[in-house]
Amino acid sequence: MGKANIYVNRHFSISDIDKRVYGSFTEHMGRCIYEGIYEPDSEFADEDGFRKDVIELVKELGVTMVRYPGGNFLSGYDWKDGIGAKEERPTRLDLAWHSLESNQFGMDDFMKWSKKADVEPMMAMNLGSAGLRGALDLLEYTNIDADSKWAQERVANGHKDPYAVQVWCLGNEMDGPWQLGHKNALDYSKLAGDVARGMRQMDRNLELVVCGSSNRNMPTFGHWEEEVLENTYDLVDHISLHTYYESYGNNQEFLLCSTDLDYFINEVCNIADAVKAKLRSDKTITLSLDEWNVWEISKYHAQEFEKWELAPRVIEDEYNVADSVVVGNLLISILRRSDRVKMACLAQLVNVIAPIRAEVGHPAWRQTTFYPFSYTAKYGRGKTLVTRIESDDITTERYGKAKLVDAITTYDAESKTASIFVVNRSLTESQELSVVLDGFTGIGLLDQASIGNSNLSLTNNLENPNRITPDMTKSAKIDGNVVSANLPPASWQVIHLSVSEG
Ligand code: AHR
Repeated sequence: MGKANIYVNRHFSISDIDKRVYGSFTEHMGRCIYEGIYEPDSEFADEDGFRKDVIELVKELGVTMVRYPGGNFLSGYDWKDGIGAKEERPTRLDLAWHSLESNQFGMDDFMKWSKKADVEPMMAMNLGSAGLRGALDLLEYTNIDADSKWAQERVANGHKDPYAVQVWCLGNEMDGPWQLGHKNALDYSKLAGDVARGMRQMDRNLELVVCGSSNRNMPTFGHWEEEVLENTYDLVDHISLHTYYESYGNNQEFLLCSTDLDYFINEVCNIADAVKAKLRSDKTITLSLDEWNVWEISKYHAQEFEKWELAPRVIEDEYNVADSVVVGNLLISILRRSDRVKMACLAQLVNVIAPIRAEVGHPAWRQTTFYPFSYTAKYGRGKTLVTRIESDDITTERYGKAKLVDAITTYDAESKTASIFVVNRSLTESQELSVVLDGFTGIGLLDQASIGNSNLSLTNNLENPNRITPDMTKSAKIDGNVVSANLPPASWQVIHLSVSEG
């Protein structure tokens, strides 16, 4: 058995946590929208065709913000096809996922769904096949109260009040050669800058996200961020990062993949700050990790180019216990940089690499990855505290040297609670954990949940939707301001405490 010591002090905080780090993402892709959140013929659907069982799980998951409508889909999408009378909406080709788009679900439907699911919408502008004009028309449709063409079109479609969408992504993965309308950094930043300027002329109350890199391994990573930010710095608020991790059949390495996210976040911050220094700016750019997850991406093969289908099955990964532990660890990485990561979206929300799964004629269910997200969203509130970790190291070829134990602590002064999120990344060894919480008294154990199993390949699925659920045993021990617990191999855990200041 290994040993890990963690030291926390109430006075040493990192930052307030922006609740938008518990975001997710719905794309017109595969069965995320259709048969996922929207299935009008379903016995589970409400009067708007939204699956009620899915909405209930979205609420339980604790999602705060949802990005829409894509993703790669975005760059070929004309939002005007998805408004107005459903029977008049055209069916179009979706080039990104080689499928048919019926447009039976569009902008107004998403806004209605967001309200019912109690999430903030985060919208994305098509800067691949559309541009400034399309962006301004859309913003007028969603945000403007005036006697003008697109504002009145919204009213005519039954939505009198503007939606006041605050957060907008300026395109999707524009650095990726796979993206429809892909551009180099200079051309993209000219377009993004023009669109940002125009949008701000229409609505001053916006937060704009400029595209960063599609992943850390992009050959343009770093140069892209530098050039794009040099050209748009004063016009935007956040820069995006996207990242997906997979096991490559090696669970020990996989359990350490969040170290790559740590590097990625730190590098983007450093590049943004270098531009800040060059421009002698007072403004700090923050990060929007608006696509992250586990995804066996190398198993994905583009659709066969023969058929054009409505809502085909695309990347419906069935997540196992190892995936769940990794998702918990990626959330720890996100919280650790809560000073800079202000928004993050688990990609995606339903069916497509998602924590929630739905099949026609069956109630929706939770994948293994649902649990670390829901507990982190529930208990990871208030502020993050500097969390010093002493544990053994491990070295792997893919991720280099890393600690076997990773953790973050949060403190919510309002509810007088603190939470320790901790992961044991050793495949073989348990860890004896001891956490010293300086500056706190009267510590009591409120709740504890752990995920981990000697069989890391177990999953939840249609036949067995509840095979994997968290172990809720309250086994942590408290002695004064020291909390101790056992961390089984390859496990994630949250220890939720009542605390007083002192
Ligand atoms: O989430 C799946 C896809 O991954 C998105 O459409 C794209 O933005 C990313 O490459």
